[in-house]
Amino acid sequence: MNFKENSPFTPGSPVPIELFVGRSNQVKEILQYINQTIYGKQENVYLEGERGIGKSSLASFIRSLANSQYEILGIHVFLGTINNLDEMVRRIFEELLKQTQVQSWFSKIKDLFGQYIKQIGLFGISVSFSPPADELKRLVISFPEALSKIIEKIIEDKKGLLIILDDISELSMKSEFANWYKSFVDQVATHYQKYPVFIMLIGLPENRDSLSKLQPSLMRVFRVVEIEKLSDTEVENFLSSAFLKVNIEVKPDAMEQMVKFSSGLPILMHEIGDATFLKDQDKIIDLDDAIDGILEAGERIGKKYLDPKVYRAIRSERYISILRKCAEVPFLRSFTKQDVEARLTENEKQVFHNFLRKLRELEIIEPDLDKGRGSYRFVNEIYPVYIWMEAQKFKYRTKYKQNTI
Ligand SMILES: Nc1ncnc2c1ncn2[C@@H]1O[C@H](COP(=O)(O)OP(=O)(O)OP(=O)(O)O)[C@@H](O)[C@H]1O
Ligand SMILES: [Mg+2]
Repeated sequence: MNFKENSPFTPGSPVPIELFVGRSNQVKEILQYINQTIYGKQENVYLEGERGIGKSSLASFIRSLANSQYEILGIHVFLGTINNLDEMVRRIFEELLKQTQVQSWFSKIKDLFGQYIKQIGLFGISVSFSPPADELKRLVISFPEALSKIIEKIIEDKKGLLIILDDISELSMKSEFANWYKSFVDQVATHYQKYPVFIMLIGLPENRDSLSKLQPSLMRVFRVVEIEKLSDTEVENFLSSAFLKVNIEVKPDAMEQMVKFSSGLPILMHEIGDATFLKDQDKIIDLDDAIDGILEAGERIGKKYLDPKVYRAIRSERYISILRKCAEVPFLRSFTKQDVEARLTENEKQVFHNFLRKLRELEIIEPDLDKGRGSYRFVNEIYPVYIWMEAQKFKYRTKYKQNTI
């Protein structure tokens, strides 16, 4: 059997540090704030970006730099489904324990956690923090003091603390969270001269809107750092180094297509890279391999994002049929209203306007500003690939059915 190395691509999880690309402005900016932190200034950053754009990856890259260059102890707490302060605070302290238990100075902070630390798992290699409910409530209220106690203990070994609160989508809808954060910041400012703690909240743009509605003065405390698409050069750098890591050569025309279809979206470049890597047989990616990979990635992305959002959500056969007609020319991202209209039945024409509005609402298409009025394009290059493939399958199925009747 042909032995295949592990794929260097990680669709769906934060990228390993050595394959991290781009974001140099944001990294530079955040490192300046980290520098402030080590002089004792409590900093608050709100890292914002769309789903899958690379927020967690950037945060984890920053954490690694903060540790190696600034001797800052960093924790990355994933809060996706958490909607209450007690559990959030419990996780923060548990993560602090996990990060420090491997350090020689663990014993210095261990006592702060009382008898509520448990060694868990086989060989006791993991640790959990589970105080009773009333203790936890107290910890939520006295969070600034509790952190300050930890800092006192670690300051000989570390210059400060970085706390990454990743994915606050649930918490951002709770006024108790917004108020708690505001009073944390106020209390620190009024009670401590030095408080070397950097907190980074990570969320979607709408989470920030929600927080600022709940607690208008809260947003003033944050420095907002936004991330958007990667440039084509950054995508190319990523794909080159990922393939190089597993000793695979990539032909220039194959690279060009993989970069194009990634549309600057990190999640797509990983899916395309991964699918192409798995298709390849001879350690040389040529154009055919890349096209195979792009089609496969289209299928995966379509199943994950378009099926639930479009095919299952839109029940109207008319809409689906129009959608297929929008992606009729394979591998073409843009279309004009006029061209598609010419292919529609009278029946479909009646709902075309509403169809376009619905697809825009669902963020599947957007106006193509470069091409002027009446021009639209899919939000990325891979959606039309999937829709086109789905349409081919549909045609095939209908033909097959007709032949068997
Ligand atoms: N700078 C980068 N370099 C290389 N790969 C990246 C980079 N940023 C993100 N990725 C990859 O893109 C995908 C999405 O990244 P990540 O999970 O960090 O995004 P996110 O914004 O946190 O997503 P979500 O909103 O779902 O939490 C992952 O597969 C990750 O490995
Ligand atoms: Mg994330």
